[in-house]
Amino acid sequence: MNTQLITINPDNPDSSLIAQAARVIKNGGLVSFPTETIYGLGANGLDPEAVKKIFLAKGRPQDNPLILHVASVEQVTDLVQEIPESAKLLMNKFWPGPLTLIFKKSDLVPDSVSCGLDTVAVRMPDNKVALELINACGCPLSAPSANISGRPSPTQAIHVMDDLSGKVDMVLDGGEVDIGIESTVLDLTQTPPQILRPGKVTQEDIEGLLGPIGEHLKSNTPRAPGMKYTHYSPSAKVFIVHSQEEENVFLKNNPDKKIMILNYADEKEMASNLFKDFREADKKCFDCIVVYAITETSFGRAIMDRLKKASEK
Ligand code: TXA
Ligand code: MG
Repeated sequence: MNTQLITINPDNPDSSLIAQAARVIKNGGLVSFPTETIYGLGANGLDPEAVKKIFLAKGRPQDNPLILHVASVEQVTDLVQEIPESAKLLMNKFWPGPLTLIFKKSDLVPDSVSCGLDTVAVRMPDNKVALELINACGCPLSAPSANISGRPSPTQAIHVMDDLSGKVDMVLDGGEVDIGIESTVLDLTQTPPQILRPGKVTQEDIEGLLGPIGEHLKSNTPRAPGMKYTHYSPSAKVFIVHSQEEENVFLKNNPDKKIMILNYADEKEMASNLFKDFREADKKCFDCIVVYAITETSFGRAIMDRLKKASEK
């Protein structure tokens, strides 16, 4: 398959290009598009055959459900059994934005999206290209990260091409994403709601609206099936350090290794660049990546979650 790479203005997307991409989706094809978090790999979320192609293209395990992307709150109604009050508050405050909500699913959601669970994950991305594409398609788009499963999530269209060229119909290049880390996943089918994956919308943000919720990620049996798989991993081995001293010790103990050192100024810079730098390290054949930890509060918790996962293999 020849993958079409199309440059599109993220601030003012050309409607004829959006229409072209929507045609591909309506015909059961795959289109990668930018969101504010990372690039997604979209298909018609109500078409089981199209959804299956996503799993094939990514090499994604069959038990890892997908997020449905919507362009309006009204679109959620048909996909879920009920919209709890808590969801209304959250959608009102954080949508469009990097917060995925898990609901009890309706019969409209194909099993290939929910992977046999009785729940469905839904989010409204804060990106014009994404929103206009969803609107033009007239259906929710099932979209995981547009990478080969296990590789770092793509923050630029070139990353998508590196992983999926020849496997998807089209990639919309809307430039580099804003955030660089995947959305927060919040399970509203549990009481209290539980954060299954930390992201830019933090526990504090959510508690500001809903009151105290469970401490996230403490269970050994992850409820977001995707969290049990190796993630975000470059081929180079990732090590976390906390000080110049620790870096020095590492360098002294590994004199023969080609080592990339990553020390970011702040959370924002780290989130935007971490996955890109992982990919860069592999392209340039580094053996190890040494990354300075940041404080695990608010957004830092989400970034450190990804970094720790990358260092686990
Ligand atoms: O920022 C994002 O969320 C990006 C962009 C493209 O929207 N998408 C993304 O999708 O990261 P993906 O498929 O790479 O990650 C979705 C996560 C997985 O860990 C999956 O297991 C979990 O959400 N998930 C999806 N549906 C679920 C459900 N019904 N119950 C529990 N976890 C679910
Ligand atoms: Mg992913």
